[in-house]
Formats: sequence, structure tokens, C-alpha cells
Amino acid sequence: MVGGSVPVFDEIILSTSLMNQVISFDPVAGILVCQAGCILEQLNQYVEERDFIMPLDLGAKGSCHIGGNVATNAGGLRLLRYGSLRGTVLGLEVVLADGLVLDCLTSLRKDNTGYDLKQLFIGSEGTLGIITAISILCPQKPKAVNLAFLGCPGFSEVLKTFTTCKGMLGEILSAYEFMDNRCMQLVENHLRLSNPVTENPFYVLIETSGSNAGHDEEKLNNFLERVMGSGLVTDGTVATDNMKMKMLWALRERITEALSCDGYVYKYDISLPVEKLYDIVLDMRSRLGQSAKSVVGYGHVGDGNLHLNVTAKSYSSSLLKAIEPYVYEWTARHHGSVSAEHGLGFKKKDFIGYSKPREAILLMQQFKGMLDPKGILNPYKTLPSSSC
Ligand code: MLT
Ligand code: ZN
Repeated sequence: MVGGSVPVFDEIILSTSLMNQVISFDPVAGILVCQAGCILEQLNQYVEERDFIMPLDLGAKGSCHIGGNVATNAGGLRLLRYGSLRGTVLGLEVVLADGLVLDCLTSLRKDNTGYDLKQLFIGSEGTLGIITAISILCPQKPKAVNLAFLGCPGFSEVLKTFTTCKGMLGEILSAYEFMDNRCMQLVENHLRLSNPVTENPFYVLIETSGSNAGHDEEKLNNFLERVMGSGLVTDGTVATDNMKMKMLWALRERITEALSCDGYVYKYDISLPVEKLYDIVLDMRSRLGQSAKSVVGYGHVGDGNLHLNVTAKSYSSSLLKAIEPYVYEWTARHHGSVSAEHGLGFKKKDFIGYSKPREAILLMQQFKGMLDPKGILNPYKTLPSSSC
């Protein structure tokens, strides 16, 4: 996405793949302590066998490492329900630039002793230290999971359905994702997936996770009756069995893959006030006209996070100039963030000023200078090349 883990110039890669052991699991508190190279999906299986789940889930779960997830503060599909890693990570072990091992691998829910140093490393993209072990709080595995895939006639209906859904599903709502029809066409054409409902301008995926199947089903049915009766939703399908749920999730999770089959992809991951979330897609579509192949919007409505992607036959600097810095200026004007969940890495570091004040960037540079005076940790990433 942003090249945070792609080596450039004189950088070398440190692999943590062999550091893939679970260190401990507390079955009462649901606290997992593991090494940084554990794969997210395998950790999820490990804790599921013990009646818990990992607090984060994302399309790359089959290959991504928990250490990388924490270093980039990955968001993903469960953030709406379980919050960000800034809340669920309880402790970290980090190797600092001078070789010192910082052992803050505590498993305490509450620890108000001094500064919370682990927060410095969460989301620092490997620029301040190397995360080697993690202690993380896992939620109880839900006894009943339901998924609804619905078609909406417009984006304002997507938002009204979200408001209705928060009101009627409340504590059992665990994900609210959306994709536009162009995304659907891409997953259909490039990945041969099929649309389970009639064609609509927008689709939403709603997941509920609760402890009582009958109660959750009744709530979901009442909600569906309301949104279909009022015209917010025109068609839909529901799944409770694993096979169908996987099939429905694939339509949303594999958009990234379908986009990369469509051509060169210009990727943007922005936070905006929800009512503005799709305006930038429409604006960009008319601004780029025929010079783009597809301009799509999808993402985590529940978190106010849009993935705006533009594809073209091949890379073109004139197309890039038409998109940037326009997209960043637009985002800043609406008080959004130019990187909601993917970090700044190599590609976006010079745009940090659109989302952070000069004083904050200066302080970040001072932290970097203190923790990594020789600039050996992911040196060309996250912070701007020139001083502000
Ligand atoms: C997603 O939500 O599918 C990803 O964060 C987007 C991406 O990988 O481009
Ligand atoms: Zn995402």
C-alpha cells in the first residue's frame, strides 16, 4: 500500500518468520502472548480452539505477521466492534536501535505507571524499534455469527442503513462494510465471483456476533424488515453457515486483488466524516474522466474509512498529478486523515503535513532522533524527507 515494508536504497530486511511461537495464553482473561512472526490466521485458530478470537481480522490474515500488524497499527474488519490495536495490545517486547531489549511485555489490563511506551511503537512502522513479542487481549468467541449482504440504491441509503443498524442491532453489530457497484463488477470480471443479490449502486456487508443465536436472529430479522420496508435496502441475502459466510466475505475482502488485475492502481486510504465519505469518489470520477479505467470506493463505513482506488492501463505521471495533491487537499479541507489505517511508509511520508501540525511532526522527528540517532531503522519511511 505505502511501501512501509519494501526495502529501498541501502536497506536490508530483517525476517521474523522463525519467531513464530505462542509464549502463553491465559484462558480466563483471554490474553495471548506470542512472538512477532506468528501469522494472524494461525493465531486466530489457536485462540478459537480455546473459545476466543483475535481482536483484528483483515484480508491478508493468511500471510501477515502479528508483529507487522502491530507495527503498522492495522485496522481491518473488526475495528468497529473491538477497537484499534492501541487498545487491545497490552504489552510489547521491542529491540531498540542500540540493541537494548525493552521488555514491556506485560499482560495487565490496567497499568498506569508512567508513560505508555508501547504506544510509541504501535503504528511507528519499524522506525523506532523492532517489535519482537506481543501481549494482546482476545475477545470471547461469539456463539452466533450472522452475515447479511444487502444492496442499497444510493450512498445516503448506505448511511441511513448504518444508523438504523446501530440503533436496532446495537451490541451485536460487529462489522459494517461497503463497496460500490464498480467494485462488484471488478470481483465478478477478474475473480469470477458472483453477485448474490440484484445489481445495485452500493452493497453493504453487516456482521453480527453475539451469544444467543435465537435472539440475534430475531434482531437481525426485525432490522431487515425495517430497512427493506422503507426502501433503504432493495435486496439482500443472509448467511449463518461457514461456507456461505466465507463466500460473502470474499466479495469484500478480495476487492484489492481484483483491482490489481485491472491495471496499475493508485491507492488512497482516507478517513473522512461519514457523510462526506463517498463525495470524493464522485468528484474524482468526474475529474479524471476517461483517463482512468476505474475509480472505486469501498471500505469500513463504520470507522469512517474509505479506500479510494483509481486504476489505469499503466502508470502515468500526468494521471498521478491529476490525483495528487488534489486528494490530500480535499481530505485536509474536510478535516480527514490522509492515511486511515495503512500508515505513511515510503509513498505517503511527505504528505503527513496534510493531517498533522508542524509541531507534532517536529516532536516525532525528535523522538526518532532520540531512539534511533544513527537512522538505521526503516530510515526512509514515515517521517518527511526534509525537516518542516
Ligand atoms: C481492505 O480493507 O480491503 C484493505 O485495507 C484495502 C487494501 O488493501 O487496499
Ligand atoms: Zn481496509
